[in-house]
Amino acid sequence: MKTVSESFEYKIYASSDEMSKADADLMAQAIVQLDNAYAPYSQFHVGAAVRLVDGSVYIGSNQENASYPLCMCGERVALYNAGANKPNVAVESLAITIKNQKMSIDKPVSPCGACRQVISEYENRHQHRIRILLKSDGPEVYELNSVADILPLGFNGTFL
Ligand code: THU
Repeated sequence: MKTVSESFEYKIYASSDEMSKADADLMAQAIVQLDNAYAPYSQFHVGAAVRLVDGSVYIGSNQENASYPLCMCGERVALYNAGANKPNVAVESLAITIKNQKMSIDKPVSPCGACRQVISEYENRHQHRIRILLKSDGPEVYELNSVADILPLGFNGTFL
């Protein structure tokens, strides 16, 4: 028997001002999407913006349903929007932000497990890691290098 330990590094920007203009702009576009979320049941708005390697940007926001399991997360809407429009162009960065109408959340919130799996699919599909930028109400922005860091031992198509 042996014990394996895995760790990962990520960056914390004190605010968007510390980021590149391109990343700050991507996050700004995600923030705009908070207003387009349809979240009457959870009051939890998620805005997302995907930048592809060709520089184009595709947006998304969470879309809820009275039949709760049908709710769709904002980052998945953005990725599917990109996939539907530019199927052959790799994703370079994904900015995600949240706004809980019921309380303020200071620290960046990470994507749910289902979204991690979907982000992973896009990384594998294009063989290109996706930088993930996360922001909540507070000024800090987290930058993750790859979804693989937050989905260790993930399932993928090579097993099928
Ligand atoms: N949600 C997202 O959009 N992304 C996540 O990663 C977690 C949750 C949405 C789904 C639902 O509309 C609301 O947030 C509460 O779960």
